Amino acid sequence: MQRVEKELARLIEEIDYDEVTRLFSNLNGGKRLRAKLILKIASDNEQAPLLGAIVEMIHAASLLHDDVIDDAMTRRGESSVNATEGSKTAVMLGDILYSKAFSELVVFDKEIAKIIASSVTSLSKGELLDVNMAKEFNESEETYLNMLYLKTATLIEASAAASAMLAKKDVNTHKVYGKNLGLSFQIIDDILDITTDSKTLGKPAMNDFVEGKCTLPYIYLYEKLEENDRKKLVSLHAKKLCADEISWIKEKMMTHQSVEESFKLAEKLSLEAQSVMSGDEDLVNILQTMIKRNY
Ligand code: FPP
Ligand code: MG
Repeated sequence: MQRVEKELARLIEEIDYDEVTRLFSNLNGGKRLRAKLILKIASDNEQAPLLGAIVEMIHAASLLHDDVIDDAMTRRGESSVNATEGSKTAVMLGDILYSKAFSELVVFDKEIAKIIASSVTSLSKGELLDVNMAKEFNESEETYLNMLYLKTATLIEASAAASAMLAKKDVNTHKVYGKNLGLSFQIIDDILDITTDSKTLGKPAMNDFVEGKCTLPYIYLYEKLEENDRKKLVSLHAKKLCADEISWIKEKMMTHQSVEESFKLAEKLSLEAQSVMSGDEDLVNILQTMIKRNY
């Protein structure tokens, strides 16, 4: 991973603006899941660290914009850039990062550049869908999973496919792996928003529903509830919740096993990915660690 961090530092240096270097060095890089995946798949390829750095810059840019769109004051347990420096700076830093990432893509094979670039269009479509879906209570699992695929899984899928191309490995199986890893990762994230306390999360718990996001456990709960309880759940959507309301939702979810059912889907997707990648111990390990994470 040091090679990715070195490439990132070089690209940021090339932007040649101290303010950008300062802002970028203050960002918490997170797990660097996408770059790790690229390095694992194309470990021997000399272009892999650059591809990893490009994808991490795109991911960082998308989160900068997402925090402005979501009005989020924290990111990975720290103050977001929009909170400390203002939304204008966060948007412009995002623009600089993703345009720089795109300029660097030209050194790659056309197919690799295309797969990464088009995943960013999907990412942006997914974000718009997410924002629009939050306006009303969404009860459709299919609509929700399609949005998740676009918003989160496509960049992971593209990272896996592009690095498979670099390493001359099978692109289709790596695509399935990346897609399922991305989907199950996000489903686990949605579960943790309900089951983890806000201190551990680094953001308010049950925040998704307050923001209008009907994640899988809410969709599964809705499916099981009687008419009156359904009405109550819908009436709580996209509102600040008091302690009683939080307890009511949690109790109903316990009764109807909504979290367990959501976890089962994440597990099923993860097992599918493990089976297409059964010969690759490292990639199977990434999935197993991800599915077991509890914060
Ligand atoms: C987080 O979702 C958001 C994303 C994974 C994608 C955001 C995409 C864009 C803003 C499109 C623009 C793209 C670029 C490259 C500038 P979330 O809000 O559900 O998760 P969170 O809890 O981590 O905020
Ligand atoms: Mg967000």
